[in-house]
Amino acid sequence: MSDEPVYYHDYLDLDRLLGAQHPRSGPNGAQDEMLFIIVHQAYELWFKQILHELDAVLETFGRRPIKEREMGSLVAHLERIVAIQRVMLEQLEVLETMTPLDFLDFRNLLGTASGFQSVQFRLVENKMGLLRSQRAPTGEAPYTAWLSAEHRRMVENAERGPSLVDLVEGWLERTPFLEMGEYHFWEAYKAAVNRMLATERARIEADPTTDEKERDRRLARVDANRDTFDTIFDDERYEALRRQGSRRLSRRALEAALLITLYRDEPILQLPFRLLTGLIDIDEGFTAWRQRHVLMVTRMIGHRTGTGGTAGAEYLDATTRHARVFTDLIDIPTFLIPRSELPALPDEVVEAMRFRLGAQEAGSAL
Ligand code: HEM
Repeated sequence: MSDEPVYYHDYLDLDRLLGAQHPRSGPNGAQDEMLFIIVHQAYELWFKQILHELDAVLETFGRRPIKEREMGSLVAHLERIVAIQRVMLEQLEVLETMTPLDFLDFRNLLGTASGFQSVQFRLVENKMGLLRSQRAPTGEAPYTAWLSAEHRRMVENAERGPSLVDLVEGWLERTPFLEMGEYHFWEAYKAAVNRMLATERARIEADPTTDEKERDRRLARVDANRDTFDTIFDDERYEALRRQGSRRLSRRALEAALLITLYRDEPILQLPFRLLTGLIDIDEGFTAWRQRHVLMVTRMIGHRTGTGGTAGAEYLDATTRHARVFTDLIDIPTFLIPRSELPALPDEVVEAMRFRLGAQEAGSAL
């Protein structure tokens, strides 16, 4: 390390950073173009930091086995991304101090430039695991058609993965404790669901305060619930949903995610649970940003087409519904059962969890 004094301005390379705003309307042109540029640049810096965190997460997840101390830092990276997303959401307010009329002072100078061409945003999406098939339609040409050749290569390369979804799936599939000796989590869980639904049915049937019509209505709700559970119990239905794209994770990965969620009070499952929560938070964070962005866009340009060539607000609205990667995790509450109905883990599983936790605390690998 050198003893040279470090000058703040040089350390941050501020000459270049602060010299990188070039309003196309010129120095005495549209007042708000500077704001427009700076807000976009601030976003690109945050995208850069998100990619930095995401790359660290992908690298750690790519290693096997993952050690306990690495689990802690994985969760920390995810939680940092969530904190950045909160700032990203708020930052739109700064841009909204510009009125639609002020925007029109320079909008025609943007040509085809649009956040639609943000390479870093596409890299984040692809590294997270967004599939082409999930993208909202962009007309005849694929979403990469508006990128330079070099950027297209980068974005397509990131599409090839392995993405965060792929790596999380692999990690979940390797979760121990799903089967141990006589214990099979999935069988125990199914039995608990069946008991829960049978109890609910019996309670409705025995309720003297409801008439027949109301009873049938409530029983139909239990049947609908049963049918939803069958979509994960029935192998063929599960695989059919995966083929359709309604489910992404393998059944084994989903089983592990359910085990972690249901038994998250066990000390060894607490960090894995926080990790799953972080993934859900990030997915929701991007959706919240997309929703907020589309509101702002509608306020700024109404229903005009975008400078990037899409239908504008209508296209963006579709992305809020399609561009989600951890929908299986977000859907987990559909399949939860109350703690009171949850079968206790057998002693041998609890013992194995403690033993493993002890081994991890001593620094050995999972
Ligand atoms: C006056 C403000 C803004 C307007 C009117 C606007 C408008 C639009 C429109 C119409 C699109 C759809 C693509 C197109 O046809 O152009 C779009 C996409 C996009 N914008 Fe903005 N935008 C604004 C501000 C921002 C800011 C501050 C960011 C931050 C980086 C941003 C990031 C994006 C991204 C990443 C996309 C691609 C979304 C996707 O394809 O899923 N936009 N924007």
